[in-house]
Amino acid sequence: MAKVYVTRKVQFNAAHRLHNPEKSDEWNRRTFGKCNSPNWHGHNYTLEVTVVGDPDPETGYVIDLGDLKKLVNEKVVSKVDHANLNLDVDFMEGVLPSTENFVIAIWNELEDHIPSGQLHSLRLRETDNNSAEYRGE
Ligand code: NI
Repeated sequence: MAKVYVTRKVQFNAAHRLHNPEKSDEWNRRTFGKCNSPNWHGHNYTLEVTVVGDPDPETGYVIDLGDLKKLVNEKVVSKVDHANLNLDVDFMEGVLPSTENFVIAIWNELEDHIPSGQLHSLRLRETDNNSAEYRGE
C-alpha cells in the first residue's frame, strides 16, 4: 500500500457580497469592509482538489485526473463561474459566501462523487494571499 495525494487545480471567477442580514448595516460594514460593498464585487478563485489513494496496479493512477476535471467542472465550475454566489448558485443558497463557507459547500458537492480514491482536501484561494483549506472534519 502506498498512499499518494493527487491534485487537480481549477480556476473560475465569481461575484459575491459578505453581508449577515441578522446584523446591522454598521456591523456588516465594520466586519466585512470592502467585501460588504452593496453592489457586489468579484474574485478570481483557484480551487485545488486533492484525492488520496493507492495507485491502481493496471493504470498507475489514484484517479484519472481527466475524470476528476470533468467532475469538478460539472459539480462546481459550471455552477459558479461568472455567477453571483449570493444569487445564482443552488448549493450556496442561504450561505454567507466567505471563503470558509464556500469551501465547505464545495466539499459537500464533491465528496460522494469521487470515482476512485477519497477526497482528502480542498484549498480554495480567494486571492493570492488568502485561502482556506478544508478536509471534511
Ligand atoms: Ni470578497
